[in-house]
Amino acid sequence: MNTFFNVEDLGNLQQALDEAKKVKANRYAYQELGKNKTLLMIFFNNSLRTRLSTQKAATNLGMNVIVLDVNAGAWKLETERDVVMDGDKSEHLLEAIPVMASYCDIIAVRSFAGLVDREFDYAETIVQQFVRYSGRPVLAMETATVHPLQAFADLITIEEYKTKARPKVVLTWAPHCKALPQAVPNSFAQWMNAADVDFVITHPEGYELDPKFVGRARIEHNQKRAFAAADFIYAKNWSCPGVKNAADYGKILSREMSWTVDEEHMSWTDNAFFMHCLPVRRGLIVTDEVIGSPKSIVIPEAANREISAEVVLKKMLESLSSQSYSTL
Ligand code: CP
Repeated sequence: MNTFFNVEDLGNLQQALDEAKKVKANRYAYQELGKNKTLLMIFFNNSLRTRLSTQKAATNLGMNVIVLDVNAGAWKLETERDVVMDGDKSEHLLEAIPVMASYCDIIAVRSFAGLVDREFDYAETIVQQFVRYSGRPVLAMETATVHPLQAFADLITIEEYKTKARPKVVLTWAPHCKALPQAVPNSFAQWMNAADVDFVITHPEGYELDPKFVGRARIEHNQKRAFAAADFIYAKNWSCPGVKNAADYGKILSREMSWTVDEEHMSWTDNAFFMHCLPVRRGLIVTDEVIGSPKSIVIPEAANREISAEVVLKKMLESLSSQSYSTL
């Protein structure tokens, strides 16, 4: 596996879920695989879970880990092409990427959407440069449009908690005070489409996700109808994806507090579990009562980030041992 952005990159999803069970049962069993191999984790944006879980997963596999916070101590990096670099950015990605690649075997990148230029974001302009110029396997730690390590952990969690063969899973938009990217709902939708679940997305008008991620999901604008008989509620805010009106891309179109998931919302479900990728703003996305209830599985969901990262890194290390990457 040379890249990890989409569910297809994992190959057979059921086999990957079986692998996740094996890894979780004995997460230190593959230490030889990562011996003398280095993971470089590059953060253009903040993180708690992704940073800790991916680093832990890599060390479980015996890897060395280097972490670079681009905005804390590194030269400011220029990401646009054909610019005169007379501003505050001292180094271009075109030099920085091969240099960084020369110190590692696998590169993990976090680079959020700017939410200004839909074309720039949805072309994955920054991470695609890492794929093109690093000569190394590249995995997403949340990009402009996807967060596959999160979605894989979400699916592992649903598999662990489901009590019926084909549970009903509802992705619901919820209000927020800041404009947030669409990476988490995009990937969640993509992965639920690939899984054996009854998948429904609910959001106010104008928040339609990109059709390539929505796939065969049912869209229900009435949140109460969407929640009926649900087994899992996955709450998330996202800003306008600009599908219906490109000029609205990245904007907050609604602050409708009736979409906040509270106990009444959960009473519409079939005693559903509550999920969220975290970090979460209480009182906006979800009430204290719901996130603190026994049906809230946000902590085991976050803990499974270590497992999803370990499975992905393990697959990349296995591919590495069967290929030769040049030393730059
Ligand atoms: N869910 C998630 O990616 O959390 P962090 O932003 O803290 O990494």
